Amino acid sequence: MPSDTNAPVEQNPSAAVGAKVPAAPPAAVARGDGPCGPAGECAAPPCTLVIFGAGGDLTKRLLIPALYNLVVDGLLDDGMQVIGVNRGERATDQWRDDLHTSLQQFAAERSSAGKADEASWNWLAQRLHYVAGDFATPETFERVKQAMSKNGSGGNAIFYLAVGERFFKPVVEQLGKAGLLDESSAGGFRRVVIEKPFGSDLASARDLNAHILNYASEQQIYRIDHFLGKETVQSILAVRFANALFEPVWRREYIDSVQITASETLGVEGRGAFYEHTGAFRDMLPNHLFQLLAMVAMEPPNSFDAETVRDKKAEVFEAIQPLRADDVVFGQYEQGPAGVAYRAEPNVAPDSKTETYAAARVYLDNWRWAGVPFYLRTGKRLATRRTEIAVQLKRVPFLMFRDLPVDALVPNVLTLRIDPAHGTRFDFNVKVPGPTMRMGKVRSTFDYNDFFKEQANVGYETLLYDCMLGDETLFQRADSIEGSWAAVDAVLHPTAGGALPVYGYAAGGSGPAEADALLARAGHAWRPLDDEPKRP
Ligand code: BG6
Repeated sequence: MPSDTNAPVEQNPSAAVGAKVPAAPPAAVARGDGPCGPAGECAAPPCTLVIFGAGGDLTKRLLIPALYNLVVDGLLDDGMQVIGVNRGERATDQWRDDLHTSLQQFAAERSSAGKADEASWNWLAQRLHYVAGDFATPETFERVKQAMSKNGSGGNAIFYLAVGERFFKPVVEQLGKAGLLDESSAGGFRRVVIEKPFGSDLASARDLNAHILNYASEQQIYRIDHFLGKETVQSILAVRFANALFEPVWRREYIDSVQITASETLGVEGRGAFYEHTGAFRDMLPNHLFQLLAMVAMEPPNSFDAETVRDKKAEVFEAIQPLRADDVVFGQYEQGPAGVAYRAEPNVAPDSKTETYAAARVYLDNWRWAGVPFYLRTGKRLATRRTEIAVQLKRVPFLMFRDLPVDALVPNVLTLRIDPAHGTRFDFNVKVPGPTMRMGKVRSTFDYNDFFKEQANVGYETLLYDCMLGDETLFQRADSIEGSWAAVDAVLHPTAGGALPVYGYAAGGSGPAEADALLARAGHAWRPLDDEPKRP
């Protein structure tokens, strides 16, 4: 069934990157300190954003486009400065030109306007400065300090670690030793943003936390999980807690099972070297998928205050029953309709045992969820790109329908669609029109684009803006990171039986058959990756 699309869709041309339809930002609650833009949101306080890894992909493809979108939305203060740090001498002008080229490519790919707005780009470009230096040597941090002293961002600074995980410790250490994290002498805030992967198991995450907390306080650390920047993920709490329909049934008495899927059609895309020692499980499960799990399973917080929300999420991680080997299935793509085998990808060992697919069965040991399986799966080179959460309700009693020409009623399923579709979908039963009583399954779909203007968003805008405002709600606290790793540590370090088997699946398929068996044991089945509506 189509959605009711009677909500007004405002028109507003803008050249923001990431929007398929040029659009103005939506009305939002004003949160910043600075002057307010047309969106009703206010500019963040002035600050210097220091990006370590200025020459990397993340900077080009996500951070600079996100900053540009914030400029378009009027959310950055005039005192904003960006200092890019990378190895290799190059002039600031050359760095700006490189970023401009990739922003234009990005705009051409993602925006129907097809090109970046020059005035907004120029505003940003004149605030970009490049500093060459190694990430671990003190001289680099002296150069950063000098570059920072030349600008007027009121002592506020964010240090963004867009670097490989091996640099997390040395960069924070050098920042600390150079006095750059000392807020009292800076006269403003000093924050550190750390990308994932935050550790590779419980011991390494603890070690990393302990190390960086020698140089910065917990309140200064912003651990990013970019899934939390997705609008549709943030909306999970709104759907759950702002609608009387859902929350009363959101518990084990009514919910049969929950499936969380993040399937990708892409392979490892030149990241073979990274992926070989990370694998699908570490890359996606204890971080992105657990964050989705927490949004679905957490108790209602009393407010959107960062600590309140993060306390509720931490309780979820604490309640996860530690996964055992038989709770997970690993797979690796082999040659198939979508392309070559993982082992034939560049920088991948020809006998690699790294998993490109992982499925897990997770139970929470608390009053709301005891006994309800949460099935999580993620994989590269699968049939469709789809990130979603399907909440399946229990079947209703069948007695009154037993004389009808129907074997079973379909269970109600609420699907929270995160990517690439944005919205919700609800499967339910109705009477098929006609003189006799026949049952049919129908589907009601809500799509964000039908109701709201499509937003310019690469997913990092909210995260950067929130960090400038000092709002840590969407960032991960040390205890949650460690709680997540603790829940999966036994799978990462199996003591009995050695390494877990890795089963093959065809590139372009739905994952290994063994993952189906994981659910079949409890009478469940994965939702098809391409279950588009069918007429009853
Ligand atoms: C990243 C992983 O964190 O998330 C990638 O390292 C994965 O392997 C990506 O492809 C998925 O994010 P998104 O936003 O494209 O769904």
